[in-house]
Formats: sequence, C-alpha cells, structure tokens
Amino acid sequence: MNHEPHRLAVVDLEPAKSDFLSEAIAGLSRHPRTLPCKYFYDENGAELFQKICELPEYYITRTETGILRVHAHQMAHCIGARCELIGLGTGSGTKTRILLEELEEPAVYVPVDISKEQLERSTSLFRKIFPKLEILPVCADYLEPFDLPSPSRKAARKVVYFPGSTIGNFEPPAAMTFLRRVVDLCGNDGGLLIGVDLRKDRNVLERAYNDSAGVTAQFNLNLLARANRELDANFDLRHWRHYAIYNPDEGRIEIYLISEIDQTVRIKDRQFHFHAGEKIITEYSYKHTPQGFIGLARKAGFEFVRMWTDNGHWFGVFYFTAKL
Ligand code: AVJ
Repeated sequence: MNHEPHRLAVVDLEPAKSDFLSEAIAGLSRHPRTLPCKYFYDENGAELFQKICELPEYYITRTETGILRVHAHQMAHCIGARCELIGLGTGSGTKTRILLEELEEPAVYVPVDISKEQLERSTSLFRKIFPKLEILPVCADYLEPFDLPSPSRKAARKVVYFPGSTIGNFEPPAAMTFLRRVVDLCGNDGGLLIGVDLRKDRNVLERAYNDSAGVTAQFNLNLLARANRELDANFDLRHWRHYAIYNPDEGRIEIYLISEIDQTVRIKDRQFHFHAGEKIITEYSYKHTPQGFIGLARKAGFEFVRMWTDNGHWFGVFYFTAKL
C-alpha cells in the first residue's frame, strides 16, 4: 500500500508569501496602480467569496449552477466515459459535484485550487461522496504552469473544467495565452468545459458588484487587510473605499479601491503615497458575447462543440475540444 500516502497528499504549490510581497510592491509602484485579484482568496477572502455567491444581486453562481442542474447530463454525454477531469479553481466544489454525478465512470478527478483550506475540505467531502473515484488535489496558482499528478488508471481523455467565469479575470491577450496552455494541458482530443459570464444590462452587472449588504466591499478591502496581516503593511481600512463600475467599451466590470484621503502607506520597508481619490485596480471581470468567446477559443486551438445557457442568456457554459 505504498501509494496510499501519495493518494492522500495535497500536491502543494501554494504561492509563497514572498510572491504576494513582490507582486504587491510591483503593482503599487506602477501607474495605474494594481493589486492582483488572485490574492483575494486567503481563508478570510474565500469565505467572503462564498457569501458573495449567495447574494441576491450576484446572479453568476446561481445562474451557472442552474444551467448545470438542467444540462449536466448532456455535458457528461459530450465529455464521454472514463475521463480525467481537471478542475481549475473549483473552490467548494458545488458545481463540480453536479457534473461528477453525471459523468460515466470518471477515471480520476484533479482539483486545482489556490485556497488550500478549501481544497482540503472539498477533497475530504468528495472522497466520501465518490468513494471509488481517485482524487488527486493540487494546491497551485493555475495561472502559472504546473505539473499534473499521475493517476493510477489511464483515462480516455483529459477534460479541463473551469467554472465560475474566472476566465473573466484575464484581459483578452492573457485569456488567449491561458487557453493555449489549456490546449497543451488536455492534449489532442481533450476537452474544455468552461463557464463564462455574458454581456448584459449594465445595471444588472453593476448591482452584482455593489451589493447592498456590502459583502463585495468587504471582499475587496480584505486584500488590504491581508497585506497588513501578511506583508507587514499598514493600510488604514477606514480610508479606503470599494468602487465597481462597468466599462462598456472594454466589456468589463472594473473593481477599484479608492483612497479617500491623501495618505502614505508602508509595506515592509517601502512607502507609497496616495492622493485623495487615487485608485488601485484590484480586479477586471470581462463579460463576453458567445461569438466573441468562441472566436477567442478557436484562435487558441479549440473547436466549439456546444453552449448551454439560461433563459435570459446571462451566462454560458461552453464545451470545446482541443485540436493539436
Ligand atoms: C470569481 C472572477 C468570477 O468576477 O464575478 C466577485 C470574482 N469579484 N465579486 C467575478 C468577484 C467580486 C468573480 N470571479
């Protein structure tokens, strides 16, 4: 039974604190200033994001989950039997569970997530629900290249599942680079099942990122709180404000932290001066049209198979196959 420990271990490529420090300093030294959105998801942030997913204004999670409930059977049919399912940023795993329940004899499930606590929790839950399924969790920033663990059974094909419209965080050229890497990862005849938020009325979009309970604001401000906790920084959270607006020319929600006063902030041994009203970009969330997204994926090397959507066409779940 010497492979048993390997089966239970989380492959740990969690980004080091030093990455957060150097990326924060680099981002705040640039103009416009930025802080990378991947650092939202420490334990606190992952919990706040879970709360966002349950907000009445945040239609994304509900809509995508609804599409899965109705169409997972057809998705499983497209994916085929005995696949290796690689889940990128699958978080608590609610949607993946719906998909796995429909898949025909999946060979192995490889969840990849940046939040180690969530990965461990969802892995132990999934091992109870799917006792026969081999599960090989990887804690990694999947925006960077990473190695896949070796499953004990050979799969018919590799299929990447990328839910939640996380692809929306990429600017189009980066989305293209990312999709090309996914083509390489899943190989010829591999598949990509991806959830993508679609363009819609700007009021619906802006409400989703400016919820009345203020949870999105807390989520955004947690980035500064995290910097204080982990980087020896001294952001005064009373003087920063959450701001989210739709940019129709770029087709994206833009999320900022705005300095409410003139202030100097220290991060370790560096000082940053902010004018009153100055912004830090913390996240872009692109909204795609079906044709636009299919075109992007095609340029990256994917062939479009199908899209499933809700009645309002607010969200799309796309299935592509890779052609190498
Ligand atoms: C996880 C990237 C899909 O863009 O809607 C939610 C993150 N940020 N509220 C999104 C998020 C603020 C979310 N994604």
